[in-house]
Formats: sequence, C-alpha cells, structure tokens
Amino acid sequence: MSVAEPFEDGREAGDGRLERERPRERRRAWPELRPHLARARDEARRRLVAHTLGFKLLALALVARAPRQYLLRRALARRRGGTPRCPVPDEVGFRRFTPDDVAGIAPAVATLQRVARELAPHYQELADHQHGRYRIVFDLLSDEQLLDLPELVDFTLDDAFLEAAIAYLGTVPVLRRIGLGLALPDLAHPAPRNSQLFHIDGDDRRQLKLFMAVEPVGPGDGAFTYLPAHVTQRVLAAIPGGRRRGYSYEYFADEEVLPRIAPHELQRLEGPPGTALLIDTSRCLHYGSRVEPGHRRLMLGTFYQRYHVINETPSNWLDPACAGADAVRRLALSPRRVHPPGYFFPHPLRHPGPGARGRT
Ligand SMILES: [Fe+2]
Repeated sequence: MSVAEPFEDGREAGDGRLERERPRERRRAWPELRPHLARARDEARRRLVAHTLGFKLLALALVARAPRQYLLRRALARRRGGTPRCPVPDEVGFRRFTPDDVAGIAPAVATLQRVARELAPHYQELADHQHGRYRIVFDLLSDEQLLDLPELVDFTLDDAFLEAAIAYLGTVPVLRRIGLGLALPDLAHPAPRNSQLFHIDGDDRRQLKLFMAVEPVGPGDGAFTYLPAHVTQRVLAAIPGGRRRGYSYEYFADEEVLPRIAPHELQRLEGPPGTALLIDTSRCLHYGSRVEPGHRRLMLGTFYQRYHVINETPSNWLDPACAGADAVRRLALSPRRVHPPGYFFPHPLRHPGPGARGRT
C-alpha cells in the first residue's frame, strides 16, 4: 500500500484513519523532534560559516533580508566618521581603559556594586540553580532590573565605547548585552572547561565586548585572559585546522596555545574596580573564570555587535527610550526583536537558573 499523501480535508488516508486526525499526531511528534532539528541546523550553520566562502554567503543572505538597516547604519557610521577618542587598534584588537579615561566608569562601578550587594546573600543559592556551562559564570542582571537602571545603558553607550565600536566595525552596532557576570569556584569541575578554555567567539568575524572589573581582580580570581589579534592569527595558523576550529566554537587546550606564544603575549584583565577592556573576542583568543577556591570574580560585560551578526546569541531587552534623540544611539538600541522582555534574562531571584538561554 502506498504511503498516504497529505489531504487537506477529512478524506480517509491510506492507513484507514481520517487525515484530519494526522495533523494532531504530527503536532505531538514535533516538540520531540524540534530540539534535534534545531541542533542539526545549528551544526550545519556552524560548519558553513567556519569557511570563508560559507561565511560570506550567509553574511550576504542576512544583509539581503534587511538591506535598509545595512545601508542606514553604514551611512551613519561614515557621517559620524573621524577618529574616535579611544580607538581600538586593528592590529591588536583591544584597548584598555581606567576610570581616568572615561568619567562614567566610577559611577557605573558604584551602581553595579549596589546591585551586587542586594544579591550577595543569595549568591550560593543562585549558583546552585545553574547547570552545565551556565555554572561557570552567571548573570545577576535581568531585563527587568535594567529597565530601572537607565544610567547603566547610558554608560555603555558612552562616546568612548560607541564611537570606538563604530570605527572598528564600520557600522552602527547593536548593544546586545549588558551583563553582570558572577564567577564562583566550581569544586565539582576543577579542570577548565568550555569558556575557561582558549577560544574565539564564533558569533561573527568581528565584534567588540567591554569587560570591566566591578570588584578587584587579582591572582586566583579568574581574570579574563587574552591574546592580541595578531598573536591569535599566528597561533591559529600554526595549529592544524585552527582557524576553522576557532570559528566552529571549538575550544583549545592550553598545551596547544601556550607553547606557541611568548609569556608576555598572554594578558590578563586584573586591577581595581573600573579596570576595563574593549576587545574583539572574535579575533582574540581568550578564556576566563578559572576561579580558585576562596575567590570570586564580578565583572560587567557588554556586547557591541553588527545588526547582521552571523550567529545571534541571547540578548537583553533594553529600553529604546534610553537613546534619547540621538540617531546613532537609537540604532544601537534597535536590534531585530524576536522575544519579549525577560525571555533570556529573567529576574535572578524570581526565576533562578539560566532561563530561556539555557535552551539555546
Ligand atoms: Fe568567549
């Protein structure tokens, strides 16, 4: 007997059941298949974009879906033009900041320390709700809290950072994340894993992230550790399949990287609160959060990415009103919105755990 073709009405299908019953059956089957299909699609996409041609094709397809955004953001970036006050040199792919460089750093640290003080009694409880890679570093800031902290959004859109990002990326980027990441020692997994190992962020070929110490960072605290872009390029070229592995979100063991660099090339974001770094994590090998027992690390992390970023990762819902009348800032707070506020980053106490991003 031949397999029944799908019918639109209630005609009897080949197996004797009414076809109108079949969609319900399919609906029951889909939820089980969905995660497998999503994983297969993501894997295929990762393999595609790890290669230069595949990346270019996908990048073109994404621009073709929203060409106006592409043209508008590039035109505004050109108009803003000039040399930013704090440029990120292309060769190294990072720039360090101190509270003397940006007036907003000290007040932002104070705000973040206040948020942290309110949550500090719950740190261990919050950690216990995390699982897998979400235990390594977890977020204390939700979309809901950020709505009450417009000064923090304002700080992350400071000219020092936004103009540097515009010049570096050649477009007006989207501010996708404002995270207050807490890293605690994980006694169950003492060996480095996931983001505690060297890697580059395969979300795109370029992006900038601002990391800022909210509490002092010293030895044992799990400092963000990185290599300049030109050193990364040299290391990835020396590791067989290194570039492809890097853009496929694969991790590199210390033994693969450290013998290929000089000790002074490995840099750490250590220092007092307010010590900050704007870095291209897609071009600079990095790791972090190797927190030793008795230590912890509290750090701000903000992401500036192209509107047409290749692999979208969970993002915050930020209030567009924080942009004011400035056209560039308005674009920075105008991502493609798919999910409602709180979807990826719900309130840490009312909805402990990794939230929806745990399913991505
Ligand atoms: Fe990373």
